[in-house]
Amino acid sequence: MKAIVQDTYGNADVLQFRVVPAPTPKPDEVLVQVRASAVDAGVWHLMTGLPYLVRLATGLRRPRKPILGMDMAGTVEAVGANVTEFAPGDDVFGICGSAFAEYATTKPAKITAKPKNLTYEQAAAIPTSATTALNALRDKGEVQAGQRVLIIGAGGGVGSYAVQLAKMFGADVTGLCSTAKVDFVQSLGADEVLDYTKDDFTRDEFDLILDIAGNRPMNYVRKALSARGTLVVVGGEDGGKIMGGTQWMFKAPLLSLFTKHRVRGVISLANKKDLELLRDLAEAGKFTPAIDRVHPLSEVPEAVAYAQAGKAKGKIAITV
Ligand SMILES: NC(=O)c1ccc[n+]([C@@H]2O[C@H](COP(=O)([O-])OP(=O)(O)OC[C@H]3O[C@@H](n4cnc5c(N)ncnc54)[C@H](OP(=O)(O)O)[C@@H]3O)[C@@H](O)[C@H]2O)c1
Repeated sequence: MKAIVQDTYGNADVLQFRVVPAPTPKPDEVLVQVRASAVDAGVWHLMTGLPYLVRLATGLRRPRKPILGMDMAGTVEAVGANVTEFAPGDDVFGICGSAFAEYATTKPAKITAKPKNLTYEQAAAIPTSATTALNALRDKGEVQAGQRVLIIGAGGGVGSYAVQLAKMFGADVTGLCSTAKVDFVQSLGADEVLDYTKDDFTRDEFDLILDIAGNRPMNYVRKALSARGTLVVVGGEDGGKIMGGTQWMFKAPLLSLFTKHRVRGVISLANKKDLELLRDLAEAGKFTPAIDRVHPLSEVPEAVAYAQAGKAKGKIAITV
């Protein structure tokens, strides 16, 4: 099968378009013909092995899994002897270990039926980013109808879902983004859009802030919180080669001990229950994946470089 393979950590030029043996499903696995995948910040982390913290899970000197890609939509090709939930021909979407390939294996618990009204590319753009937005709003943010919610990084992959889902929860939503993404964030349904090159969001007051960009000190962002408000830290890439943006995982719970605000971090892993919920919401028209570009499999290196530049409005999908 054709796949994007990496033998070492590095920039996008370590990714090679090659022919490799297709995987065989174990008794408790599903083999999926991948029709589409998606690129996000996580792909860059796994490709570069940065921050170094990542390598504890992915291999210290070289990647243990040579094929990247987590999010996928496709068609079940075969199932292992113990799998009863899926059958060949089923259209599915979800998470697998090596999605930048024509075939991938995964566990039944990580996939579910694909939303019928979406293309494979749209479905593949959901799992990681939409689950993260959902976990940040619902589980960590405990968002309530009528609350004022600020989404920092509203124009990116996670942000594009956060704006739409926060509206669905009945919040009054303000998106913060660069000038180039103002119209895009407006089109997602935000009640107000602030341009961070001109507007000072700390002049306003919000019940819940999702910091997806993560490039401002938490104490600065908290200036915009109401007296009992909640800050949920989702992302950030400013922490150097060892920690990357992950230092908030330790800072958020510590800060919460010393302030009246609730400060929480999210570590989101897509699960079947949330994938099913997102599928139902997509089919009910409650949100639509926003896709900036679609690249063929052979252009994954270009797609990763584009994602890393931070210019994408919403998600970048891969057609396999
Ligand atoms: N915690 C978790 O489980 C989890 C899961 C998924 C992703 N993440 C993390 O979340 C972050 C975002 O991921 P993503 O996939 O959404 O990336 P993305 O698509 O690149 O979006 C990031 C957005 O932040 C915006 N941004 C950059 N500087 C900003 C600033 N100063 N103020 C406001 N917005 C700014 C960028 O656009 P503009 O500057 O042009 O507006 C961009 O749209 C990454 O750090 C990723 O690692 C965490």
